[in-house]
Amino acid sequence: MTSTSDLIARTSGSLERPRRLTVVGCGYLGSVHAAAMAVVGHDVVGFDVDADKIARLAKNDPPFYEPGLDELLEAALATGRLRFTSSYDEAAEHGEVHFLCVGTPQRADSNAADTSYVESAVEGLGPLLDRPCLVVGKSTVPVGLAEQVRDRLAEIAPAGAGVRLAWSPEFTREGFAVQDALEPDRVVVGVDRQEDADELGEVLAPVLALGMPYVVVDLATAQLVKNAANAFLATKISFINAMAELCEATGADVVALADAIGHDARIGRRFLQAGLGFGGGCLPKDLRGFMARAEELGVDQALAFLREVDDINLRRRRRAVDMTTELLGGTVEGARVAVLGAAFKPDSDDIRDSPALDVATTLHELGAQVRVTDPKALDNARRSRPGPDYVDDVREAVRDADVVLHLTEWKAFRALDPVELGDLVAHKRILDGRNVLDAAAYAAAGWQVRALGRPNAGR
Ligand code: UDX
Repeated sequence: MTSTSDLIARTSGSLERPRRLTVVGCGYLGSVHAAAMAVVGHDVVGFDVDADKIARLAKNDPPFYEPGLDELLEAALATGRLRFTSSYDEAAEHGEVHFLCVGTPQRADSNAADTSYVESAVEGLGPLLDRPCLVVGKSTVPVGLAEQVRDRLAEIAPAGAGVRLAWSPEFTREGFAVQDALEPDRVVVGVDRQEDADELGEVLAPVLALGMPYVVVDLATAQLVKNAANAFLATKISFINAMAELCEATGADVVALADAIGHDARIGRRFLQAGLGFGGGCLPKDLRGFMARAEELGVDQALAFLREVDDINLRRRRRAVDMTTELLGGTVEGARVAVLGAAFKPDSDDIRDSPALDVATTLHELGAQVRVTDPKALDNARRSRPGPDYVDDVREAVRDADVVLHLTEWKAFRALDPVELGDLVAHKRILDGRNVLDAAAYAAAGWQVRALGRPNAGR
């Protein structure tokens, strides 16, 4: 991973014509994008309806944890080219190019994406756009929404057809958001006219100069690229987790299997890490939103397999609960369960659809005394999933535990010493839900080890 200071050094100072940009929506994606654009030389206004969020960003106190963001924000704020507002008037007045970076969560009443934040950004900004400008959507949306946004802007903006729309989906991974903003592995843009792609290309020139492909397509393809990329990644993870089920039934080892098939360059080892499966604010809801959109389009059969991908994924969480029960000798009631990990993945404080928290709360509901620890996600977990105890210190979490569950693979958990850990627990039983612990070392220290898809781990 390239360091933030390196990325800043490599992308700043080469911009030919700085522009006035706005970034509408300052969540995980927008805040990083806004800071990145200021660092490369643009004059940026970040907009969010949440006044508290932007007040915190303005003083470099981001409301979420993302490695390197503090350094990027500090550099951006120091240039004097990044400020924040919650006024649409100010945003509209400022921008030559407006980026839409608002969220599209899953709707509460169905699998479809909730596009209301995109719609309210368009309704808020559109009527104030009285000069020609380029609006660039970056949010993940159901295919077809970009065309609706384009038509709606032409209808409500005083500048009419002078307001052009491009769609440039992002592929940002939490934990690597700074790198993905300044050195993405590709930039994709959907446009109606090549000139709009050229204009965005100039805005992103310092980033594109690092040499990644700049893929120009039509609006529909750009939206589908994002849906397809996430669906593929989710499918890859569920594929290996389906193999884990086969391994459990046959005595085979899913990690060795993934290594072996991963040597085939056509398959590749990345995203073949078997375990508790995927969670987070993107893959699960994007998968479901994609299926819902296919149904609306009358092509639901084409994505029927994604239902299975989702089911395989959720089955892993239930399997982890079952394996815990087995480790405890048949019942979890009253058992002291230590859970290492609350975030949906390491290097993040995001607990949206976190597999780890799902398992922790299920065990709590089954009557276990569950103690969860996590380096960054405890506050979010406490707020959104009351029930288990949340403790800062790993040692406190595992003290007198009847079983330890390793559910999010933070470096700090991987570095734990099985011998020292063994002195703290009541019973040396561990489930590795992410298949990264040294099972042999745990077994040698006297632990009873279980791992998803590795029936002989530590034996
Ligand atoms: C994902 C996409 O990677 C990114 O391109 C998109 O823009 C947003 O969604 P993110 O949600 O940050 O990014 O996480 P990612 O690294 O993709 O991991 C998603 C989930 O899959 C995590 O819960 C992770 O633990 C799990 N995972 C990942 C596996 O279980 N096995 C793997 O091999 C890889």
